[in-house]
Amino acid sequence: MTMPILDVRDLKVHFPVKAGFIGRTVGHVRAVDGVDLTIQPGETLGLVGESGCGKTTLGRSISRIIKPSTGMIGYRGTDGTVTDLAALRERELRPFQRQIRVVFQDPFSSLNPRMTLRQIVGEPLRANGIATGSELEDRVADMLARVGLSPKYMDRYPHAFSGGERQRVNIARALILGPRLVIADEPVSALDVSVRAQILNLLRDLQEEFSLTFLFVSHDLSVVESVCDRVAVMYLGKIVELAETAELYASPRHPYTEALLSAVPRPDPRLRDVGRRVRLTDDLPDPSNPPAGCYFHTRCPYAVAGVCDVSGQGPVLDGIGPGHHAACLRSDELSLAGVASELA
Ligand SMILES: Nc1ncnc2c1ncn2[C@@H]1O[C@H](COP(=O)(O)OP(=O)(O)OP(=O)(O)O)[C@@H](O)[C@H]1O
Ligand code: SF4
Ligand SMILES: [Mg+2]
Repeated sequence: MTMPILDVRDLKVHFPVKAGFIGRTVGHVRAVDGVDLTIQPGETLGLVGESGCGKTTLGRSISRIIKPSTGMIGYRGTDGTVTDLAALRERELRPFQRQIRVVFQDPFSSLNPRMTLRQIVGEPLRANGIATGSELEDRVADMLARVGLSPKYMDRYPHAFSGGERQRVNIARALILGPRLVIADEPVSALDVSVRAQILNLLRDLQEEFSLTFLFVSHDLSVVESVCDRVAVMYLGKIVELAETAELYASPRHPYTEALLSAVPRPDPRLRDVGRRVRLTDDLPDPSNPPAGCYFHTRCPYAVAGVCDVSGQGPVLDGIGPGHHAACLRSDELSLAGVASELA
């Protein structure tokens, strides 16, 4: 088995909650609350879950845009050396920030409206002292062409472009430093359905061309199904299930995954067990005051009082089959409904 490019262990990001005039800390939002996951070189790992479950915070802490509170982010370099990014100080991070880049969700707000495409895409080259002048220009032109934009637009500003084109600029900016790991945070969610497939195809082509590894963050399970090799399901700051995509969709082993999958559109009714539909009605609990025991017990249709809600450490992510992990005390006894693959 190949060694992972990323090995995240017990990662936590707790944001302080301040109150009063003097800003006293009265609690913590546990945005990421003990995450374990690995990413293999060349794979696309999906990260799914409801709004507010901590996906963006996890992606930002792995790329060290924000500093995690505790835990390990083991990153394996090209020479095989593993570095714990969580332990590095700001100035030690530079070489790694070239290797791990983020594509942000919103192609409108993430591009500076006062910078031309040449400045936006060339900025990382300039800031890292890699290229200036005509060399920078050549590299920007080359990268724009690779993401499907004509270099003749280099001196235009972002407002001249459509959402899909701006996301191509975002991708060019992320790839210009030649990263190995790309964290794509909802890269197509803000785009019209008609351009989503184009951007997803572009990401797939670039992955092959540049041997990229992706952490693909999305709340859209149909998109994740079409692009990811494995999927991690996140709930209230924790990974509750992790498996290969086809296995996770067909045979979920965590009730939260079953509930998410029940909302996946399947035009063909034979591909869905309609009678087993589970609805997530209530809102996500407050991440600064998570429920005792299993965090999902307040919404879980299979919760057992006195078992699932007992305070102390809730269920941990256990191996339950080859490459399949789930954090549910009842995963052995429950028979949960998945969705058959449309891709078969
Ligand atoms: N800088 C911050 N300070 C305090 N709380 C934060 C901060 N950033 C995020 N949070 C909180 O952390 C939790 C996780 O937020 P996050 O943005 O990571 O979720 P998400 O899964 O990406 O949601 P979405 O699908 O809406 O993008 C939320 O409760 C959010 O309000
Ligand atoms: S541990 Fe209990 S509450 Fe949690 S997911 Fe499993 S059955 Fe539901
Ligand atoms: Mg987010």
